[in-house]
Amino acid sequence: DCGGACACATCHVYVDEAWLAKTGTKSSMEESMLDFAESVQDNSRLSCQIKVTDELDGLKVTMPESQH
Ligand code: FES
Repeated sequence: DCGGACACATCHVYVDEAWLAKTGTKSSMEESMLDFAESVQDNSRLSCQIKVTDELDGLKVTMPESQH
């Protein structure tokens, strides 16, 4: 909803465990915004903050129930 500005948390996803290492780490801004998301887990990310590279071809994420 915010166009990737890390300002809304509507892009909250769960990154599949097998892909966690490749998706990088959360910035402090992303951590702060996740505080406003529902049902946050250790593998929660704001998908707009994951830098997409060829290495992420096949990346598996799921959406929290609240985002369906
Ligand atoms: S689209 Fe708003 S934080 Fe990702």
